[in-house]
Amino acid sequence: MYVDLTLGAAGHLREMAGRLTPGGVAVGVDRDARAVEQARIQLQSVSYARVELHLVQGNFGDIGEIMARLGLTKADRVLMDLGLSSDQLETSGRGFSFLRDEPLDMRQDTDQQLTAAEVVNDYSQAELERIIREYGEERQARRIAEAICRRRNARRIERTEELAGIITAAVGGRRGRTHPATRTFQAIRMEVGDEVGQLTRGLPQVAELLAIGGRLAIITFHSLEDKIVKGSLKPFSRHGGRTDWQIVRLGRVIRPDTAEVRGNPRSRSAKLRVYEKVRVTKAEAE
Ligand SMILES: C[S@@+](CC[C@H](N)C(=O)[O-])C[C@H]1O[C@@H](n2cnc3c(N)ncnc32)[C@H](O)[C@@H]1O
Repeated sequence: MYVDLTLGAAGHLREMAGRLTPGGVAVGVDRDARAVEQARIQLQSVSYARVELHLVQGNFGDIGEIMARLGLTKADRVLMDLGLSSDQLETSGRGFSFLRDEPLDMRQDTDQQLTAAEVVNDYSQAELERIIREYGEERQARRIAEAICRRRNARRIERTEELAGIITAAVGGRRGRTHPATRTFQAIRMEVGDEVGQLTRGLPQVAELLAIGGRLAIITFHSLEDKIVKGSLKPFSRHGGRTDWQIVRLGRVIRPDTAEVRGNPRSRSAKLRVYEKVRVTKAEAE
């Protein structure tokens, strides 16, 4: 069984499904209902006679429950390709990009309550500053939070262009090649999507879901995600006597080469790590 927990446009799942032996099971999960619908269309050519395909709208933080509902256990391969899809960034109209003037929404799951407009307008200045500093790794977090609060005292901030303008004015223009709003937009998106919480909850469930010999490949884009991946899998990386398995990392961290970054600039901060669930014999455990 192959499982893609960040289905997106189904590019990876199509590849994975093509490698399954007949009768194999492919599962795709995404919290964005629109991604799941588009993936369904993309995967129409996958032979249902050959592969049992399940596409599910849901959070990978609930993956244990999702798989239990499907009655499936023991994944041979699990993929997590974190972050945003190109569709969400470029065409969803949900305000993920400061390059387009859109409502401040930033929800991947449009059924959830919290939106970017609520974070920007209703969080305290201290909370805003913390989020921008921690999730955005933004050194000017205080100045940006102050500027946002000053503006919102006059009227609610509802659109991306206005927010990007406030941030640019607060930090004083472009720094190198990065737009001044990049880090703050990333921080707000991570807060709206509870990205840290979902990853922290999901990874132990993935460790349980893997079959012995099963592998997790995870692509991260942010140093905080790297920290969570390492921290959440660490308790499983040593045999604690509770189980007859442990999680080990295979090989080194894989980064894109210059040619890949040239073709796909958004891959520049990507890191791919691969983990395997291995059986621990009694002798090894002792
Ligand atoms: C980088 S894209 C994946 C692209 C995909 N690998 C492909 O081949 O097209 C990330 C996807 O993960 C989804 N996602 C992010 N966090 C999620 C979560 N907690 N649970 C489920 N899906 C999530 C997003 O909605 C987005 O569609």
